[in-house]
Amino acid sequence: MKVAVLGAAGGIGQALSLLLKNGLPAGSELALYDVAPVVPGVAVDLSHIPTAVKVAGFGKDDLDAALVDADIVLIPAGMPRKPGMDRADLFNVNAGIIKTLSEGIVKNCPKALVGVITNPVNGTVPIVAEVFKKAGTYDPARVFGVTTLDVIRAETFIAELRGLNVNDVKVPVIGGHSGTTILPLLSQVEGVEFSDEEVAALTKRIQNAGTEVVEAKAGGGSATLSMGAAAARFCFSLVKGLQGENVVEYAYVEGNTGDATFFAQPVRLGKNGVEELLPYGELSAFEQQAKDDMLATLEKDIKEGVDFMA
Ligand code: NAI
Repeated sequence: MKVAVLGAAGGIGQALSLLLKNGLPAGSELALYDVAPVVPGVAVDLSHIPTAVKVAGFGKDDLDAALVDADIVLIPAGMPRKPGMDRADLFNVNAGIIKTLSEGIVKNCPKALVGVITNPVNGTVPIVAEVFKKAGTYDPARVFGVTTLDVIRAETFIAELRGLNVNDVKVPVIGGHSGTTILPLLSQVEGVEFSDEEVAALTKRIQNAGTEVVEAKAGGGSATLSMGAAAARFCFSLVKGLQGENVVEYAYVEGNTGDATFFAQPVRLGKNGVEELLPYGELSAFEQQAKDDMLATLEKDIKEGVDFMA
């Protein structure tokens, strides 16, 4: 198994690479790519950890070598938010980065599973899809926006609120990955009932959890450690799928819900990425309204990505 991390020297990239070095199956290869000159050092640093995962660092002119024959590519490259910014403010900087990196993927590992972390995910994932389409190698089953952070936040907040073991709490989160497009389905959390006030407050907290971190870091960036953990969990699920195990994750994909071209929904992972698109089930009246209210925003975000490539 070869996993490439693009943007590996950043806050997310380093946390994620550490978790992958410790958690990928023995014999795997971890390719760390970044334009920052520190990336070979990050690779050397990680290489001293005694696990059977081989690490190599690749500087800015070595994208091809980092990507060649990769099975999975995770992309946390690009600018994070500062206080007062929303994710859409990042589009102008990050769109070009995603385009360049996707072109590298198309050239060197067109069959890889691609997990996009770079914000705004609602718009960067369509860019990846468009780059693949231009090359005639697009397979919607292989391109994912990583929304796992929304899921783990929802699970953590609910477990804390109700004093539950967080391992027993499963929370579906559908839609997109910014503001109101993040839609946790609290009506589907098994064994837990919420009042209307709790649903409103929890939904808002999950949607604004990223801003909670941005403000607490006071100009020092956005979520990196929790995002590293979320991306590692997602990557390990992709690996399990590739190895033939049956795993379900929520991810932002070109799916079949009929809500928007790209939409986070449950997917069964397998040897080809998405093995099966699963339905998100019945929504409460609150969730249905929240979904109806956010779809125009999500469509606009998606269109921005598609238009960037037009
Ligand atoms: P960071 O600034 O710490 O790291 C970004 C890294 O990307 C830097 O090392 C930089 O050198 C590298 N980079 C820039 N241009 C590049 C290029 N063309 N090729 C390769 N590497 C390049 O930022 P951080 O905190 O790691 O965030 C990265 C991205 O992840 C941001 O866009 C952020 O908004 C997003 N993010 C996404 C989340 C999600 O849930 N999907 C959650 C949190 C952040």
